[in-house]
Amino acid sequence: MLEIDELSVSYRTGKKMIPAVGPISIKIASGDIYALIGPSGCGKSTFLHVLSGIIKDYSGLVTLKDEGLNPQKHDIGFIPQNFGLLPWKNVQKNCLLSLTIKEQKIDSSLTERVDYIMNKLNIKSLRDRYPSELSGGQKQRVAIARAFIMNPDLLLMDEPFSALDALTREEAQELFIDIWNQYRPTTIFVTHSIDEAIYMGKKIVIMSHCPGTVVEIIDNPLFNTENLRENKEYLKLSAHLRNVVKKGWKI
Ligand SMILES: Nc1ncnc2c1ncn2[C@@H]1O[C@H](COP(=O)(O)OP(=O)(O)O)[C@@H](O)[C@H]1O
Ligand SMILES: [Mg+2]
Repeated sequence: MLEIDELSVSYRTGKKMIPAVGPISIKIASGDIYALIGPSGCGKSTFLHVLSGIIKDYSGLVTLKDEGLNPQKHDIGFIPQNFGLLPWKNVQKNCLLSLTIKEQKIDSSLTERVDYIMNKLNIKSLRDRYPSELSGGQKQRVAIARAFIMNPDLLLMDEPFSALDALTREEAQELFIDIWNQYRPTTIFVTHSIDEAIYMGKKIVIMSHCPGTVVEIIDNPLFNTENLRENKEYLKLSAHLRNVVKKGWKI
């Protein structure tokens, strides 16, 4: 269980503290998948930065598996909006980063898994390149591979497929579902795509304008449904979500 209790973050701008997100209280069961949608600047990235351990200056309480959130103790995979690759390491080393940090032995089953993920994301031929030699979409695929390879307890993804073309995006979404079916990481991802939220989110969280709070949490009956757009429920749910977006994220 990931428990978030009255979490708020403010940023210091000059002498003022300006609220960026919260208060947010939410309980996320282990293995669940939450899609986060909300207007630009409402605090989605800030929220994920707290959960990934990048922001330590927040008020409220965050516990994972009944312990205070601790990136040193908990395995947290994070795909940041700017991909977060280390410029001085090549693709292969970026992908294996978390395993080398944990000094994990890379045995044959792990090699197989790494190969599988890199193949699916079509980055094997790029393994010797450095991030500066990659396009935006390629960098994003490396960041996705790195997070999937580490098999985290908590997987955080900030608009993870935004730089991908439609076809690659669909493949990446399917790969995520495939990985989730195998390892069931608790997942929170941010997306601007209503279709992506409906396809990949077991729950859909709608956030308000800045400082973002939770407006609504929807139990999504259409998670991992094929031919989504042909489903009658899809029309109802996507119309509802679009309506909330249009009304300025208020119900
Ligand atoms: N490092 C920072 N310093 C000051 N203000 C920031 C910083 N990062 C984000 N903000 C502000 O906090 C709010 C939330 O930002 P962010 O979490 O990036 O939103 P989102 O990801 O939903 O677009 C915005 O108003 C943004 O301008
Ligand atoms: Mg953001």
